[in-house]
Amino acid sequence: MTQTDEYFLESKPLFSGKIREVYNFSDDNILIKTSDKISAYDFVFDDELPNKGALLTKISKYWFEKTKHIIDNHIVNDIELKKIIPNTFESCTLARKCKPIRVESIVRGYISGSAFKQYSENGKINDITIKDNMNINDKFESPIFTPSTKADVGDKDQNISLKEMYDLIGKDVSEFIKKKSFELYNFAHEHALSKGLTLLDTKFEFGYDKDDNVILIDEIFTPDCSRYCLTKDLKQNHIEYFDKQYFRNYLDSIKWNNQQVVIPESVKNRIISKYSDVLKMITDE
Ligand SMILES: Nc1ncnc2c1ncn2[C@@H]1O[C@H](COP(=O)(O)OP(=O)(O)OP(=O)(O)O)[C@@H](O)[C@H]1O
Ligand SMILES: [Mg+2]
Repeated sequence: MTQTDEYFLESKPLFSGKIREVYNFSDDNILIKTSDKISAYDFVFDDELPNKGALLTKISKYWFEKTKHIIDNHIVNDIELKKIIPNTFESCTLARKCKPIRVESIVRGYISGSAFKQYSENGKINDITIKDNMNINDKFESPIFTPSTKADVGDKDQNISLKEMYDLIGKDVSEFIKKKSFELYNFAHEHALSKGLTLLDTKFEFGYDKDDNVILIDEIFTPDCSRYCLTKDLKQNHIEYFDKQYFRNYLDSIKWNNQQVVIPESVKNRIISKYSDVLKMITDE
């Protein structure tokens, strides 16, 4: 296990999400520490997956840098961070303190996961009617936007319509977020394709910075918040997921009952190995 740093022994988090702890770094900045834990179905498992926090942090930082021409993001240049937290800097992000917008902005280019389940039940995803005869992981003619609420830790996110999003956070900001979400998804989808990966869907979080600009926060295009697979696998009946879907499928296979479980070493290794592949393939590292 990675040794912690004095900084974290001496400070208390400002708040904690499911897998991240957020520390008050300065008046304007927060320090986000991503743990090695995994959550699925809005449940956080106690078991840790060594190096997962660092992998997610590296993937996010890569994409934040790559997409800053589309929208500004919360990353603060962290050259000095290594000196302050020498043991843990790889899983930490120095970021601008923002007021999170309590909506998850989900873009789907392909019909997968819970969206396919909804579609199988009533032909819709959220309130959007989808054409007949789509199979799992088929590509939409154009990507769709399916927002959800951002629940507090312990609660479940609820799918909402665009109209409900307007009511929650305002029409103009909703339209801005939707437009930027499509631009970000399309950009990353193209980039991933050029590396042999398909980005099936993803989720963004936005926040207001101190000047009230809407910027991108949290994590982006990690295998925790996105679905990835090999492009060459897409047309086959059995695709290997390079993201949390593999873990969700494992939980389904053991008929998981919403309790803590010890995650088998082989499952942990499989998750970490695929997350590492995403980092390697996307960044050519
Ligand atoms: N720049 C920022 N300013 C303020 N809050 C932020 C910023 N970036 C991220 N956050 C918040 O930090 C928290 C990160 O927590 P984490 O990702 O562990 O939990 P979660 O989002 O509840 O869970 P999950 O990602 O599994 O759905 C989130 O509440 C997110 O909104
Ligand atoms: Mg999160």
